[in-house]
This record gives sequence, C-alpha cells and structure tokens, in this order.
Amino acid sequence: MKKMEQLYEGKAKKVFATDDPNYCIVDYKDDATAFNGEKKGTIVGKGVVNNRMTNFLMKLLEKQGVPTHFVEELSDREALVKKVTIVPLEVIVRNIAAGSLSKRLGIEEGVKLSRPVIEYSYKNDALGDPMVNEYHIFAMNYATPEELSLIADYALKVNAFLSSYLLEHGIELVDFKLEFGKTADGTIVLADEISPDTCRLWDSTTHKKLDKDRFRRDLGGVEDAYNEVFRRLLGE
Ligand code: TMP
Ligand code: ASP
Repeated sequence: MKKMEQLYEGKAKKVFATDDPNYCIVDYKDDATAFNGEKKGTIVGKGVVNNRMTNFLMKLLEKQGVPTHFVEELSDREALVKKVTIVPLEVIVRNIAAGSLSKRLGIEEGVKLSRPVIEYSYKNDALGDPMVNEYHIFAMNYATPEELSLIADYALKVNAFLSSYLLEHGIELVDFKLEFGKTADGTIVLADEISPDTCRLWDSTTHKKLDKDRFRRDLGGVEDAYNEVFRRLLGE
C-alpha cells in the first residue's frame, strides 16, 4: 500500500492516508510531551520502541480475542492500521495507585488496589482531557452503552493478559491508557498505542520506573528505561 498525504499530526505520531481508504499508516516520532503539551522534549529512539512494542502486543492481544486496528509492521517507525474513527475517550485502567489517582484520593504511590479501576477521560486537549463517567459519555454521545460495555470488557481483558505477560518479564503493570476506534462497518477495535508512553511499568523486584514518568518527573535514564522494556519483551 502506498503512503499518501498526511492526515494528522499528533504529539507522538503522524497519520498518513494510503491508496486504500480503509487503511492508514501511523508514523511514530521521538517527540515527547507531558502535562497536556506544556513540557516538551525528545526521547531518542522512542518512536522505534513504541511502534515495535505496540505492534508486538497488539498481535498477542488479537490472539486473546481483542480486535485491534493493527494490520502490519512496515518499518521500525511505521505500521499499517485499519482506518478508524477514534472514540473520543481515554480509557485508563489501574492496578496500583500512582499518578493522578494518588493525587486525587490521597493514596500513596505503590499501594495495590483491591481490584482494577477503570476511568474515562474525554479526549480534548483544550479542556485538558477532563474525567467523565458513564452518564456524561451517554448524554454527550461519546459512545453508546453497548459500545462502552464492549470497551470496558476489552480494557479488562487487555489488563488481565498484559499484567501477567509483563510480570513474566519482570515488569509490573501499574496503570495504562487505551484508545478505541470504530471501523467503517462500526466494529469497535483497540487503536492508538501500548508503550512506555501510555503505561506505567515498574520493575517487579526493584520497583524502578521504566516508563514516561522518568521524562515527566525529570528522573533521568529515560532512553535506557524504554530500551530496557523493549529488550525484556522483544528480546533485542
Ligand atoms: P494519570 O495517573 O496521569 O492519570 O495517568 C494514568 C495512565 O495513563 C498512565 O499510565 C499514563 C497514561 N496517560 C497517557 O497515556 N496519556 C495522558 O495524556 C495521560 C494524562 C496519562
Ligand atoms: N501525552 C500527554 C501530553 O503531553 C500527557 C502525558 O503523557 O503525561 O499532554
């Protein structure tokens, strides 16, 4: 499939049209932002890690019965994906208290939650991705009850599978953010990425942070952390 005009440039990826209207090409950048774009930087090699890790995990998730937008890895930084309309929600799943949950509820980072927590944010940079609940989602038509029920089922399935898979590789899945899309025929599929940008990943023995929090919090060793996750999962 031929790479055609750029459709969209986000903070971490560009999306291109192809000569088939049902497919797009995602191109991962090394650009990093945090706090709704206030903090900007570069994480050298991040585009490669995030592209290859996302593709690798989406292939595994398909086998677990979670449909995804992934079609084929085209290069180190590019993937062919199904064209979708993104459901305007960030779907966050948490296993261990950290980040905004710790702040909001006054729970120390690292406290294990007694069951997984799902949160939704309305994807809108101008508003800072405000948290919403089911009532907002249905009233504003961000998703139908049927769609959200499927999204929540998939999110928990992703959590169950990834938590145990990552743990086998010495990584604790603290929390993560997913996005879903709708294909032309209305099928809900997992979209966007699953990477150290969108997950909190802690070494399961030392609890060292191996994710974007190293960039957000100026902890140093950002590239090393991304490469370590990549090496543990893809063995390279
Ligand atoms: P939070 O604790 O800041 O709400 O983040 C929860 C999870 O979601 C964490 O793994 C990082 C991820 N995340 C994103 O992928 N994009 C975002 O814009 C934000 C705020 C969080
Ligand atoms: N990517 C988000 C931003 O720049 C936030 C984050 O990941 O912390 O707004």
